[in-house]
Amino acid sequence: MHKMYDTHSFASSNYINQNITSACHDNNISNHLEFKYNNLNNKVSIHQDDAISFLKKLPSQSVDLIVTDPAYSGMNNKLKLGKGRIVGQYSQKGDKESKWFSEFEDSEENYIEFLSQCKRVLKKSTGHIYIMFDSYSLLTLGSIVRDYFDIKNLITWDKVNIGMGHYYRRRHEYIIFATNNNNRKIKNRKFPDVWRFKRVHNSAYPTQKPVEVFQAMIYASAEENFTVCDPFLGSGSSAIAAIKNSCNFIGCDISNKSIEVASSRISKYIESGKDIMQKNSTSVEENIFWE
Ligand SMILES: C[S@@+](CC[C@H](N)C(=O)[O-])C[C@H]1O[C@@H](n2cnc3c(N)ncnc32)[C@H](O)[C@@H]1O
Repeated sequence: MHKMYDTHSFASSNYINQNITSACHDNNISNHLEFKYNNLNNKVSIHQDDAISFLKKLPSQSVDLIVTDPAYSGMNNKLKLGKGRIVGQYSQKGDKESKWFSEFEDSEENYIEFLSQCKRVLKKSTGHIYIMFDSYSLLTLGSIVRDYFDIKNLITWDKVNIGMGHYYRRRHEYIIFATNNNNRKIKNRKFPDVWRFKRVHNSAYPTQKPVEVFQAMIYASAEENFTVCDPFLGSGSSAIAAIKNSCNFIGCDISNKSIEVASSRISKYIESGKDIMQKNSTSVEENIFWE
């Protein structure tokens, strides 16, 4: 992979970029950026890589929390979204100029390899994992999660307003919350399993999720300085949520557009405290549970 971003353009007094060698077994990942914040005590590193190949390069038990939103292929193939019905030319997914990103081949075999790598990198005694699902992938892949992790909750993300749908119109997604077969609890027992956050409208990155969805996961399951991992980074919403919780973050995405978008979003956030890709809160509740 060749380097396609100018690290000098990110120069600022609050963060630095440099190639990472310490977090990985080897130096095979050439396309990566590192940002430091909180007086350089916390680190965010993002890599351009395939999720499974990236996870394989991480040391065992090096991550406290996985929060992730994979690009499942099943739902889109099933619904046959076709040319431009949803965003851009779906049939050109993954092409350089295409608006739509590549998908993770969510065959059972691939998913098993993905989960077994997640299990290996997560700490045994304390690791928690949150995996997002649309309803189609939940029914086809969700039960496999049980073979690797101890599922504690099926959380519903209520997007408040209805979206597309051929029969009933979709208004929600699911999140499986599980532990790495340990008994570590979440922050407190007052949090509900239905989360109401509006979707991000006119997002610059397809399927950009509200930071609040990841913030809920990280707030409930992490402590300061924990290492949070997202191997399907997209626009970087999970990284922004990790920074808001003073956690270290390590993530990857296969797409160079994602790395470009997420790196400028992260650097601007560290520099200014402003999220350039989500200007307003998506919460509709009076009290969000981390406030
Ligand atoms: C649903 S999006 C994630 C959106 C993200 N949560 C956000 O808020 O912006 C899924 C991401 O997975 C990436 N992706 C697809 N196949 C991948 C693979 N094999 N390995 C890593 N990333 C992949 C896509 O490029 C896309 O950015």
